[in-house]
Amino acid sequence: MNAQPDQYGVIGHPVAHSWSPFIHGMFARQTGEQLTYRLHDVLPQDFRAYVLDFFSRGGRGLNVTVPHKVAAAELANELTPRAERARAVNTLAVQRDNRLLGDNTDGAGLVHDLRDNLSLNLAGRRVLIVGAGGATRGVVAPLLVLRPAQLVIANRTADRAQALAADFKDVGAVHGCGFDELHEQAYDVVINATSASLAGEVPAIPASVIAADSLCYDMAYSKGDTPFLKWARENGCTRAIQGWGMLVEQAAESFQLWRGVRPQTKSVLEALRESATS
Ligand code: ATR
Repeated sequence: MNAQPDQYGVIGHPVAHSWSPFIHGMFARQTGEQLTYRLHDVLPQDFRAYVLDFFSRGGRGLNVTVPHKVAAAELANELTPRAERARAVNTLAVQRDNRLLGDNTDGAGLVHDLRDNLSLNLAGRRVLIVGAGGATRGVVAPLLVLRPAQLVIANRTADRAQALAADFKDVGAVHGCGFDELHEQAYDVVINATSASLAGEVPAIPASVIAADSLCYDMAYSKGDTPFLKWARENGCTRAIQGWGMLVEQAAESFQLWRGVRPQTKSVLEALRESATS
């Protein structure tokens, strides 16, 4: 019998502040799975060789984060349909035949958080996603499946939003536009999927997208309110939520792919919020 625990980890750059080891450590204890989960800080030019080496030494799975998600999709031998749609991979898993499977659990993570943790039914709602990069690409299809009345992707660079929306026309009604088209109506849900928070900035969208009962969701997270959530509150939003829940839920989906069991997320999310924000 092999006494070594199975090896997992997260690969990114930078990755030192990742909460994934905390989350997966709690999942492993809760489910009784024997595994290790480590941080791998790897430069883009070293990504491919590093990953192949990790798996050739018996590693079982990796989470993939910025800036490697597209490279991971190119490296995987096989993609799940949702990773293929997203053209980005946040989870690599070794299969029985030693081929690498690439999956993308970000969209499912967001949907679980909105639906299960925040009790939000998106059917018939007006949803705005701000940003048209990789973070948006990963969540458009899972959101469209929930049949919102409208899904609008607005981006600083309008043609990126239009091109992204065109890629998902077959899944549901989705419209891409620039920020200048946003003056006409408020949305039930406003999701920030830009990387603006990382630079301490807020996308220049009009405050009129927010109504008193809108839910504003930042896919980014930080110790206190992110700049986007501060802006949302200042403009009358009473439900401003950052992406801790999405982080835990996408991790649970990865854990399920690797170990065949989906951990309970509620207690992990509570522990994470307490540790990360105290
Ligand atoms: P990611 O994979 O994290 O989505 P990305 O592909 O570089 O990263 O995309 C970043 C997104 O954040 C883009 O939609 C970008 O807008 P542009 O396409 O116009 O560049 C958006 N973004 C970044 N900083 C922003 C800012 N200060 N204001 C508005 N949008 C911003």
